[in-house]
Amino acid sequence: MKRILITGASRGIGYELCKQLLKEEHQVVATYRSEKTAGPLFELEDRSKNLLCLSMDVNSSTSVQSAAEEISEKFPFLDQVFNNAGILDWSPLGQVSAESFLSIYETNVVGVFRVSVAVLPLLQKGHEPLIINLSSRLGSIELRGNSHLGGAIAYQCSKAALNMLTRQMSIDFAKEGIRAIAISPGWVRTDMGGREAKYEVSESVKLFLSQIAQLPSSANGIFMGEDGEIIPW
Ligand SMILES: NC(=O)c1ccc[n+]([C@@H]2O[C@H](COP(=O)([O-])OP(=O)(O)OC[C@H]3O[C@@H](n4cnc5c(N)ncnc54)[C@H](OP(=O)(O)O)[C@@H]3O)[C@@H](O)[C@H]2O)c1
Repeated sequence: MKRILITGASRGIGYELCKQLLKEEHQVVATYRSEKTAGPLFELEDRSKNLLCLSMDVNSSTSVQSAAEEISEKFPFLDQVFNNAGILDWSPLGQVSAESFLSIYETNVVGVFRVSVAVLPLLQKGHEPLIINLSSRLGSIELRGNSHLGGAIAYQCSKAALNMLTRQMSIDFAKEGIRAIAISPGWVRTDMGGREAKYEVSESVKLFLSQIAQLPSSANGIFMGEDGEIIPW
């Protein structure tokens, strides 16, 4: 049984991760930004003795700090953190606003930094501690121009920056015994991914959880797809 933190668990991939990890008998701290969208998560909490739901807006240092303190009062350590909370703007270069660009970085990059640093002391005490950052193939610089994917410039840049953050975490946190990886869940049918996406959310989460479970304990600083394939940075 692992102790696992998930950000952005009110819906989509975060909510499904929560469900599947609970089925595997892990203890889960699921965090949500808004009570308005977290109804299903609260219902799950009523039915699950292993689930703790906490409010956490990754854009706010105060909110992240207060959630981290509450977690440390209830959990002696964390083994895994899924930095899942994320936002997207499909506007291409030339149309995206600077405000939207900044707000995407605030959530997708700075938010991951805030949460990871805030829970570092708990991860240091965990068993084979691992940070899993939800990235995207849209963030691969090497795949640009070689695929039909693209158009969401601020999101693409934010995930490329997240990949760099992941790689740097994998180096800097290694001293503490903490590993960090970036995962692309594939194109998934959520509010973000839309109805045309390739995977049902349950399918994608099942796939990438099984890939994470099969990773050797030496795996660190990699960018991997839901299918276990290494994605070029
Ligand atoms: N779906 C795909 O095809 C796909 C592909 C590649 C990567 N990803 C990545 O996978 C992750 C999850 O995506 P998804 O498809 O599940 O998206 P989603 O359905 O739009 O859900 C996003 C989640 O993030 C939360 N969130 C947004 N801003 C937040 C903030 N400031 N603080 C805390 N939580 C916040 C949302 O909370 P609210 O309910 O309060 O808004 C929601 O729970 C994202 O990082 C995304 O970039 C998704």
